[in-house]
Amino acid sequence: MTSVTMTVNGKQVSGEVEGRTLLVQFLRESLSLTGTHVGCDTSQCGACVVHVDGLAVKACTMLAGEAEGREITTIEGMENADGSMNVIQQAFQDHHGLQCGFCTPGMVMSASALLADNPKPSESEIREYLDGNICRCTGYHNIVKAILAASGQQVSAVAAE
Ligand code: FES
Ligand code: FES
Repeated sequence: MTSVTMTVNGKQVSGEVEGRTLLVQFLRESLSLTGTHVGCDTSQCGACVVHVDGLAVKACTMLAGEAEGREITTIEGMENADGSMNVIQQAFQDHHGLQCGFCTPGMVMSASALLADNPKPSESEIREYLDGNICRCTGYHNIVKAILAASGQQVSAVAAE
């Protein structure tokens, strides 16, 4: 076991981890931040996406030890300062961008990283960026609408896919 220290949602945290402990395991099992989901064992689903130093990363692809000294943000750190949903979360609710909700934390984290890099993405840019996030329920249409809305763009012309 080795000790690891990182900043998670603005707070410095430390813990003991094995060399094989994944970041997603550390977040869920050591810090009880269970909003970061595990939906596969092949690094395909994107349910585990968090931000590492501001970039979207699948937390099942990174060892906890590799996060030493890094800034991690999880879905639990995405709310507004007053505890209300942020603009992306609100847009997912308003545009029915979720059904079971299992993929939603990863979708929100990926969408947030996209909008930080590209504040007015096109529909095709959104669909391409979400290539690593799988949703089994929604068909993606309303997720794309939600992200367009969160970026302040018209959603009426979104084509169903
Ligand atoms: S749990 Fe599926 S990509 Fe990480
Ligand atoms: S809302 Fe169910 S998997 Fe996306």
